[in-house]
Amino acid sequence: MQEKYPPKPENSADLDRESTASVQVAASRPVGINLCVIGGGFVGLVTAAGFAEFGHSVVCVEKDLARFNLLCKGEIPFYEKKLPELIKRNIECNRLTFSNDLVESVTGRQVIFIAVGTPESKSGRTDSTALDEIAHLLAENLQSGQIIVLKSTVPVGTGSRFKQILNSNSYSERNISVVNNPEFLREGNAVDDFFHPRRIVIGCDEARAIEIVAQVYRLGMKPGVPIVTTNNETAEMIKYASNAFLATKIGFINELAGLCDPIGINVLEVTRAMRLDPRIGPEFLSPGPGWGGSCFRKDMKELMGLADSMEFPLIIARAVLESNQRQHLYVVEKVRRLTGSLSNARIGILGLSFKAGTSDMRDSPAIPIINELVKEGALVVAYDPQAKEQARECLPDLKLVDNIYDTADKADCLVILTEWQEFQLLDFKRIKTIMNRPNLVDARNLLTPETVRRYGLNYLGMGQS
Ligand code: UDX
Repeated sequence: MQEKYPPKPENSADLDRESTASVQVAASRPVGINLCVIGGGFVGLVTAAGFAEFGHSVVCVEKDLARFNLLCKGEIPFYEKKLPELIKRNIECNRLTFSNDLVESVTGRQVIFIAVGTPESKSGRTDSTALDEIAHLLAENLQSGQIIVLKSTVPVGTGSRFKQILNSNSYSERNISVVNNPEFLREGNAVDDFFHPRRIVIGCDEARAIEIVAQVYRLGMKPGVPIVTTNNETAEMIKYASNAFLATKIGFINELAGLCDPIGINVLEVTRAMRLDPRIGPEFLSPGPGWGGSCFRKDMKELMGLADSMEFPLIIARAVLESNQRQHLYVVEKVRRLTGSLSNARIGILGLSFKAGTSDMRDSPAIPIINELVKEGALVVAYDPQAKEQARECLPDLKLVDNIYDTADKADCLVILTEWQEFQLLDFKRIKTIMNRPNLVDARNLLTPETVRRYGLNYLGMGQS
């Protein structure tokens, strides 16, 4: 029997291209418009270059002069595949320019996307300082009818607060719309995620603003991408809920791997069957050293802070954070199981970024894992194909080498923390020869245990032991 889904809330409509007729405002043929994107970071750059690729005229504002100069040359200060060529191509076609002057850049631009960082503050809530500075600057320089789009992940209620600031009574004759349009870009896959989103979320209580923002996407988006329209607060919550759920899902499978280990069950056999259930879904079921990145922990803590302020604490979210910290120690425990005491043990770490495909080490599990190994007296050496600069900042005392085999040389244990493809092609014979003791912890289940053991290495995976 076809499951009846709950009726759609009256203020939100899931619609794709075929059902655009149900949108109150008729969708006229999309045309390229003048856009401004404030913020030349990971999200801002992908968004600006992506919209330019659609055919819009985009200016991207970056206030940091060094980064601004780099961007003008079409260079970016971090690793993100496909992004440099996307930026270069759109600079050459004069669809994408960069500016260091916010006021000049917003003048005459119909839609202004804000994609600045909203980091975690000491209290655990989001630090919206950068955002508020922009709001007050914009309040002085916007014209009626312009649309502000919050692309950054912002605390629930920010859109409405922004609207008050921008339309405060000193500007009462002016009508500035504020839309929430959260991004769902994954680092290492951001360009593909931009052009092939699972959904576009547009939150606003004004049909005109919703339609114009939908038009921005329709100019270049593939047909059939669902556009979810709702109010500002709901769009803000969708972002937090999505990230918190993804972290919860990963945390669950990490714990299950920890349970499978002592029983001797292969967790990959378990997830193979779990993935076949559409209610569980095939993705985000790979055990690892713990989730990281600039979003998950920050967003979980913002959501928990909001919940606490509503006197409805999120018990599961709290457990997910705690479980993720235990996962770091669980990896150290596996190393200790192979090497015995960690004191003076030489440990080679393969992979420092929080996931493959990015140089980003923000909240990377490598940081607490390496700190714990060092605390127990281990001598750590590490290699990452992209994160060397970031590692120098996050772990200034860490000895860094430039390749896999310098990492394995004289090591008592080799530990894979990031699933870079080159770590799947290890020369085990050579590794066995150069290591001091033949131990390998594969915290990403990147390798086939039987293959590794056939070369005489002791192997521990995650839920594969
Ligand atoms: C995440 C969300 O996926 C994205 O939608 C949002 O816009 C930003 O935050 P990102 O942080 O770039 O994206 O990386 P993601 O691919 O989600 O991975 C997050 C962490 O979970 C990484 O440390 C990754 O290694 C880990 N992970 C992911 C697992 O350990 N197992 C998995 O199966 C998937």
